[in-house]
Amino acid sequence: MGELRDKRVWLTGASSGIGEGLALELARRGARVALTARSEESLAQLCDRIKKGGGDAVVCAGDVTDTVSLKRAYSALKESFGGADIVIANAGTHFETWPEREFLPDQYLDLMNINYGGMLRTFGVVLPEMTEAKKGHLVGVASLAGYRGLPRAAAYGASKAAMILFLESMRFHLESVNVAVTTVCPGFVKTPLTDKNTFSMPFLTDVESAARIICDGIERKKECITFPFPFNWFMSLVRILPNFLFKPLARAAQRKASE
Ligand SMILES: NC(=O)c1ccc[n+]([C@@H]2O[C@H](COP(=O)([O-])OP(=O)(O)OC[C@H]3O[C@@H](n4cnc5c(N)ncnc54)[C@H](OP(=O)(O)O)[C@@H]3O)[C@@H](O)[C@H]2O)c1
Repeated sequence: MGELRDKRVWLTGASSGIGEGLALELARRGARVALTARSEESLAQLCDRIKKGGGDAVVCAGDVTDTVSLKRAYSALKESFGGADIVIANAGTHFETWPEREFLPDQYLDLMNINYGGMLRTFGVVLPEMTEAKKGHLVGVASLAGYRGLPRAAAYGASKAAMILFLESMRFHLESVNVAVTTVCPGFVKTPLTDKNTFSMPFLTDVESAARIICDGIERKKECITFPFPFNWFMSLVRILPNFLFKPLARAAQRKASE
């Protein structure tokens, strides 16, 4: 539990779901948390809650699609904390892709811009300081949905696959400057985002458990944090299945999910 105590953490997507859970868990473990998202009011309420619980947090509102806004958020963080030891790029969103109904390239690109682009911009703001200081820890919240091209998940899966590959590749480069890189791949977690899903979600994890698993992994500087165990095991197998086995399995899973 000691690893996060007094660490300065910049967390995006902190106003809801996994990010909100992470902010509370990080604070519980003694980290100082800078909260970023667009909804300033939700962040202010969360900040109050953390402070009332004896933790340390600051609101640094920002939009991950806008570098200027992120730089402003990071300046606010620096005013309070002096800098960040750990940066968690968690902000993101999801919608289902139905290309046979309507093909919406601009929407798919918007999703890429939030999920993948948001992570790149967030890291871009802090990396010059981390490489100069030769220390730091970057964490990207991707998804098990980035392992394979799943039905109805084309745009979301592509954005998460991009994150997974970028983080994996970046790890090689940042080793030499002592900056750790962690890829987080959750399965289904119960949040306002997944509450919109109309299909059944296997091994649905609650936010508190997800936040504990992610914090445990960050403390151990794990390269990859994947959960829940049974769904990760299943998706890891799916990842290496040849197409002739993957396609009928994916179709059957889609049929079962729609039941
Ligand atoms: N829930 C799951 O089952 C699941 C599974 C795998 C991966 N994930 C990933 O986990 C992350 C969090 O998801 P969640 O389920 O917790 O979703 P959520 O409850 O909808 O939370 C999404 C967060 O991202 C923020 N956000 C969205 N667009 C933003 C923008 N342009 N700039 C700044 N912040 C922005 C939202 O805040 P504002 O709207 O206030 O800006 C909110 O705080 C996402 O990256 C998601 O892809 C989720």
